[in-house]
Amino acid sequence: MGASYQPLDPHNHHKPSSKNPPCFVSKPVCALLACGFVSLALLHLLCCSPAGAQRPAFSPLLQYINNTYYSVSSVPGGDEGCNYSEGRWVWSPGYARRYNATECNVKESHDCLRNGRPDTGYLDWRWQPAGGCPLPAFDAGAFLSAVRGKHVAFIGDSMARNQAQSLVCLLGAAFPSRLVYRDADQRKHNFWRYAFPAHGVTVSFYWNPFIVKAMGKSEDESVRENHVHLDTPGDGWGADADTIDVAVLGASHWLLNGAIYYNGSEVIGAHNAPAELNYTGVGYAWPLKMAYRTAVERLSSSRPRTVVLATFSPAHFEGRPSDSPTACTKMEPYEEGEKELDWICRELRDIVYDEAEAARARSAGGGATTRVEVLDVTKLAAMRPDGHPSVYMHRDPFAHGVPERMYSDCLHFCLPGPVDTFNEILLQILRRKRR
Ligand SMILES: *[C@@H]1O[C@H](CO)[C@@H](O)[C@H](O)[C@H]1NC(C)=O
Ligand SMILES: *[C@@H]1O[C@H](CO)[C@@H](O)[C@H](O)[C@H]1NC(C)=O
Ligand SMILES: *[C@@H]1O[C@H](CO)[C@@H](O)[C@H](O)[C@H]1NC(C)=O
Ligand SMILES: *[C@@H]1O[C@H](CO)[C@@H](O)[C@H](O)[C@H]1NC(C)=O
Ligand SMILES: *[C@@H]1O[C@H](CO)[C@@H](O)[C@H](O)[C@H]1NC(C)=O
Repeated sequence: MGASYQPLDPHNHHKPSSKNPPCFVSKPVCALLACGFVSLALLHLLCCSPAGAQRPAFSPLLQYINNTYYSVSSVPGGDEGCNYSEGRWVWSPGYARRYNATECNVKESHDCLRNGRPDTGYLDWRWQPAGGCPLPAFDAGAFLSAVRGKHVAFIGDSMARNQAQSLVCLLGAAFPSRLVYRDADQRKHNFWRYAFPAHGVTVSFYWNPFIVKAMGKSEDESVRENHVHLDTPGDGWGADADTIDVAVLGASHWLLNGAIYYNGSEVIGAHNAPAELNYTGVGYAWPLKMAYRTAVERLSSSRPRTVVLATFSPAHFEGRPSDSPTACTKMEPYEEGEKELDWICRELRDIVYDEAEAARARSAGGGATTRVEVLDVTKLAAMRPDGHPSVYMHRDPFAHGVPERMYSDCLHFCLPGPVDTFNEILLQILRRKRR
């Protein structure tokens, strides 16, 4: 099982053959690591160096949006009965080449093409939902029409930001946009808003990795602990809550890492806090539920609103150290059956479904007309180990040779990349009739 590093080269883009399949850490260990415990530096460099048929290399130059072929209009109003959460990635050359990320101001560490990632096969896949349901390609006009005059807010962690930036790029490639505001520190992408004046739409991102109010590490990386107030909406979005028409909430990763949790001024427990503090362990599941509950309640009102709860999108360090240049160098999606979702992924996903169900039950009979939906991306994201920036989170990482240690991003997705599919599904959710 070779673990030698092969620089990513478009002419060396091997397709794993069935004779010599990619090797994995045993399924349970692998999945466990994918779901948050990435700091466990076990199983160093158990990596794949598959041999097999070459796939033709595609030009790394972007070809811009091709709406004519995969047009959303072939499925008027979306398909009410479709469940997009199960399915598989099918090869579809150039499908994900939708925009130039440099022009829509994404975080530089997600702009893989700019950073020189030479293999572009990760842009050649389309999500095919199970049961033959069609998932139309993203249609910016359809999206903006579905949210005409509305404020769409993404609230959550850096995966929520990844999706928010994808949406701005997808919309901005087809319609004029205007930056309304952004963080004073231009290197940050924590609070920003774009306007799409032709449709009166605004899209905002609020960095609230616990959704609810948090102090400590999430505000200042030099601080060790997170102090999280489960009963209070996060500062930024909490203040703007009455202006939000469509909220997309996404958090999990920071809850897995842990925090000290409060209700009012009282500590009610902690997860991964130093033992000497002697707090009651509350795990990550219960605080995640409470955070979503607080947010959904704040966003409930008598005017029509939509709250979309996004499920967990796992990382793919697969047990390798995150400072290894080969932490995630797989160049193809997993095939069906190649990797299973482990229990943490499933648990985190189920929490979201449960909270959505509980919110609907609470509002039934009351005056609230907030619609709560689930954006289930766990499976489709888990199948895409190839879609992360890896070492291409910096420009030309191998300009000075291949260093022994180099941090890899195996969590966020390249833009353009698999995260654009999250917005394809979001569009179908927004087009669906209110229940
Ligand atoms: C993307 O846009 C930037 C800035 O306009 C430009 O320098 C770059 O060449 C473009 N990249 C591609 C692949 O077209
Ligand atoms: C759009 O995509 C389809 C399918 O890949 C292709 O046949 C067609 O030529 C493309 N059109 C343009 C304008 O690129
Ligand atoms: C969609 O499929 C997922 C996974 O099989 C399941 O958990 C979920 O309940 C389904 N959603 C609906 C609305 O049926
Ligand atoms: C916080 O305290 C209030 C009042 O005692 C209680 O109703 C609420 O359920 C508590 N919330 C949490 C998250 O424990
Ligand atoms: C930790 O908390 C437990 C339960 O409240 C208590 O019995 C114990 O004395 C505490 N230990 C310390 C060192 O404070």
